[in-house]
Amino acid sequence: MTDATNLLVTGGCGFIGANFIRYLLDETPFAGRIINVDKLTYAANPLSLADVAERHGGRYVFVKADVADRVAMARVFDEYVVDTICHFAAESHVDRSIVRPDDFIQANILGTYTLLQLARERLPQIRRFHHVSTDEVFGSLGAEGFFTEETPYRPNSPYSASKASSDHLARAYHVTYGLPVTISNCSNNYGPYQFPEKLIPLIILNALEGKTLPVYGDGKNVRDWLYVHDHCMAIWRIMQAGHVGETYNIGGRNELENITVVQNICDLVDELSAPLSDRKARRKLITFVKDRPGHDRRYAMDCTKMERELGWRPTESFATGLCQTVEWYLAHPQWVAQIHSGEYLRWVAEHYGSGLTSVSTAYNS
Ligand code: NAD
Ligand code: DAU
Repeated sequence: MTDATNLLVTGGCGFIGANFIRYLLDETPFAGRIINVDKLTYAANPLSLADVAERHGGRYVFVKADVADRVAMARVFDEYVVDTICHFAAESHVDRSIVRPDDFIQANILGTYTLLQLARERLPQIRRFHHVSTDEVFGSLGAEGFFTEETPYRPNSPYSASKASSDHLARAYHVTYGLPVTISNCSNNYGPYQFPEKLIPLIILNALEGKTLPVYGDGKNVRDWLYVHDHCMAIWRIMQAGHVGETYNIGGRNELENITVVQNICDLVDELSAPLSDRKARRKLITFVKDRPGHDRRYAMDCTKMERELGWRPTESFATGLCQTVEWYLAHPQWVAQIHSGEYLRWVAEHYGSGLTSVSTAYNS
């Protein structure tokens, strides 16, 4: 695929979508126009792209819409003559899917279906539909082994089941209708602009404020961490050189137990910010709490296909990526204040009543 002219990015005000738009406009020779469609749920922060809109003027357009709204999305496809799609928009937090699966079925399954159907109806003009997915569709690993592109799907949470369903739909639209689909399944991302309900930003911000650091279960669940910028580079590489109808596994080859991640963050926050009032190390804030129901034990990605066929490799180690991430959160208190207000508080109050500080407390109480 050569450079897209009118690239529809869905969910561009979320964590990975915002990093992807910034990467494309600021760091690549991409010469087309980006149409960012986002519903602006609690997880979105328009501040993440405020400067992009200013700097890139006519090459960046924002439309507030729900990807499951067929009428609104048909208007976007036609008004902007969309020829390429990179689909990030989704409900993305496992804990929330346990408490309230409805939004996940609606956004992740029906939203993806709506986009695929609209793309199919405009097939001659569509050059690529890239669907962004997760390693969680494969389920949980024991102590050994890796997920490959051939691993059978076995999703365990409502979130991962909804993502698995959307992956199957995307693949089926390629096989049945010839839509030029590619799919990527990626491991846990971390980095700037991540909503602080996910482990790494939650622990950074709680550690800064001297709050409790909740670790689920025994803290020995393993995740394979990838710096978000490396994920963005992988997605763009697939969109340019990946083969239609193929799926690609993306991961960091950075397997770590949760407790190690949390301890590393404590040490970095101690090093880079003001000490706690009692001058004790932040590790003392770590608290083991009741486990997440159905908590997958271990994820690990085999990314040989990305490396061999597309020449992609992560550039950040966990040490360099985590340091940049902690520094970013320290330097952006305004972004944090914004995401902790407005839509987020409204959503929490509407669904759980006021006073809830972490989604997991909804199933722990
Ligand atoms: P996020 O929750 O930070 O952002 C999601 C964005 O999508 C938000 O801006 C939200 O407003 C928007 N959105 C949600 N529902 C929408 C709808 N119906 N219509 C339009 N916009 C809607 O999520 P993220 O972490 O950036 O994840 C992006 C994608 O990457 C998701 O598809 C997720 O499954 C996938 N993924 C995430 C990770 C990770 O570690 N975060 C890893 C692998 C794959
Ligand atoms: O693997 C890719 C997936 O990674 C993405 O598809 C999801 O969108 C993304 O949310 C993420 O899912 P996880 O459930 O792995 O991420 P989370 O940050 O919620 O949790 C990471 C690990 O840390 C997990 O084992 C649960 C644990 N955890 C999480 C939180 C929020 C804690 O121990 N304490 C916490 O407070």
